[in-house]
Amino acid sequence: MAFTTLLVEKRDDGIAVITVNRPDKLNALNAVVIGELDAAITELDLDQDVRALIVTGTGEKAFVAGADIAELSKATPIEARALALRGQRVFDRLERFRGPVIAAVNGFALGGGCELALACHVRIASEHARLGTPEVKLGLICGYGGTQRLPRLVGRGRALEILLSGEMVAADEAFRIGLVNRVVGKDALMGEAVSLLKKMLANAPLSLQYTIESVNAGLDMKLADAQDHEATLFGVLCSTADKAEGTSAFLEKRPAKFQGK
Ligand code: COA
Repeated sequence: MAFTTLLVEKRDDGIAVITVNRPDKLNALNAVVIGELDAAITELDLDQDVRALIVTGTGEKAFVAGADIAELSKATPIEARALALRGQRVFDRLERFRGPVIAAVNGFALGGGCELALACHVRIASEHARLGTPEVKLGLICGYGGTQRLPRLVGRGRALEILLSGEMVAADEAFRIGLVNRVVGKDALMGEAVSLLKKMLANAPLSLQYTIESVNAGLDMKLADAQDHEATLFGVLCSTADKAEGTSAFLEKRPAKFQGK
């Protein structure tokens, strides 16, 4: 996989690291980055050696400082709508990735960068990271799902404070309100993301996949329908070799050996 704006590293532990790599523009998301993210996610999703993703940005200053403002400044209404719809689709695909996706927020995560982090399943921030949605300062609003994912994550009141003020939220405050899951020193960021993923990847792969599917689909359903869907997935898992292995291993007091089937 060769990209001009992304670095993609496939590690031998089943984790792939996607790094947005435009350091001179604080890793801002232009149309090329969005297109390459789309291609990278597609390819990694089809690669059965890849079980989890880490998304981060090059350097220590920025995760992603937003959509590319130079590009936005020239966009017509029709182009801007198409840009937003495309970005939304790409971020949706990241959210629906079959294994866990962690955002390693290594600096500014603003606008589209904050929305990219929101589309990941878990966010770990370095202590100097700052998150926010400054689009209102540009005469815009979030266009990559931020007005929808942020209130679902931190609640409507806190989300509206962030969205309407456009002010940045420091890492410790982001942790306090649940915008990020953990805060660590900058040198510990990738290690923390890898170590959390390794704990997750020790579990049954289909259990991870169906948990992600149940949470994602359920948030768009009525509670009764979501629980019905959960029960169906629960039932389907009872047909798998890993469920037989997991339950037998517990009863036989030995570690389970999962195969993802
Ligand atoms: N789009 C395009 N270029 C961006 C960018 C963005 N979202 N964010 C930063 N850049 C560029 C700057 O224009 C500058 O480029 P230049 O060196 O060619 O002039 C370079 O990245 C470095 O940014 P700079 O603003 O000089 O760094 P700083 O340390 O002074 O400030 C920020 C850092 C993050 C506070 C500031 O860059 C910023 O506010 N960025 C925009 C954030 C935003 O509004 N995002 C939402 C977009 S929808």
